[in-house]
Amino acid sequence: MRTFVKFAVGTAIAGLMAGGAYAQDTVKVGLVISMTGSQASTGKQIKAAVDLYMKEHGDTVAGKKIQVILRDTGSVPDNAKRLSQELIVNDKVSVVAGFEVTPAALAVAPLSAEAKVVELVMAAGTSIITEKSPYIVRTSFTLPQSSVIVADWAAKNNIKKVVTIVSDYAPGADAEKWFIDTFKKDGGQVVETIKAPLANPDFAPFLQRAADAKPDAIFVFVPSGQGATFMKQYTERGLDKAGIKVIGPGDVTDDDLLPQMGDAVIGAVTAHMYSADHDSAMNKKYVADFTKAAGFRPNFMSVGGYDGMHLIYEALKKTGGKADGDSLIAAMKGMKWESPRGPISIDPETRDIVQNIYMRKVEKKNGQLYNVEFETFKDVKDPAKIKK
Ligand code: PHB
Repeated sequence: MRTFVKFAVGTAIAGLMAGGAYAQDTVKVGLVISMTGSQASTGKQIKAAVDLYMKEHGDTVAGKKIQVILRDTGSVPDNAKRLSQELIVNDKVSVVAGFEVTPAALAVAPLSAEAKVVELVMAAGTSIITEKSPYIVRTSFTLPQSSVIVADWAAKNNIKKVVTIVSDYAPGADAEKWFIDTFKKDGGQVVETIKAPLANPDFAPFLQRAADAKPDAIFVFVPSGQGATFMKQYTERGLDKAGIKVIGPGDVTDDDLLPQMGDAVIGAVTAHMYSADHDSAMNKKYVADFTKAAGFRPNFMSVGGYDGMHLIYEALKKTGGKADGDSLIAAMKGMKWESPRGPISIDPETRDIVQNIYMRKVEKKNGQLYNVEFETFKDVKDPAKIKK
């Protein structure tokens, strides 16, 4: 009898916690990423960064317990929509976060708009995403941010003739357009534009076509995770020996895969928002703590996850724990802070990220390959959103 009473009371308390007091004191964050499939490397980077942030900052903010609910899309963008819907309707999350590819981020936008739930884009990089719901905010990057800067650099550094190779989907189209428009305006010549399939790409035939055009450089965008394959085939085809340089946004020389790319990648010049080699006290600690906890080097996707958690924590401090979409998004607009990548902020008008873009060159340091930063462009907004 005594055991039964204990059990009944225990169950009643658990029930109360699930429905009433507990629910009010918890802010749920749905983390919708790929832990399996072709984009798993990005999902693992983001998950490790979210875990690190919470280990450092605790799981309570403004009197609320933060509960992260992880859902694996298996790298299928349609799953992102279904899983986000379940998280919003059944789990009553205050934020859906993650989204390693543009199609996943876009698929969730109508849900975010309709349910008035913050969609925090930690990875995808197509410019237009943030315009698809007033509750979308981004802590990753846009492809135009870096493509414009590498185009100006190329034109000023004796690169006259370029072939572009981009993955055939939205961020590739953004990278290609903003590179070409800027490079041509600067007097450069684009002799061929090549689109490679997104799924299981074999770059060899495209690299051959590029080599035949005898350019000074190839401008390349491939999503995080494909850089090592691209660089391997670039070397196998002898483009490095032919003196054809690799330039682009930094996705191709991803810090995660860079150590396995081999010395042919030395000298690749890219523009990007994060390097594991970024010289700040905060980043040195970040790289050391991240590598120790995760067992691999943080890349540019990881900081989108880390800073995304920071944005949620700081917004909750500002709202005093209020977690409805209107309160949270209002608190996020204009937020400024120091990230392992350098100073960043959320543009109050566009909800997109404003950040430094660095020119970097792959070099060997203490026997390891790094993207070594050599020039900084401060507080870069998404050029696609700057009104003419
Ligand atoms: C995207 O799908 O938006 C995306 C994915 C990986 C990248 C960049 C952009 O490295």
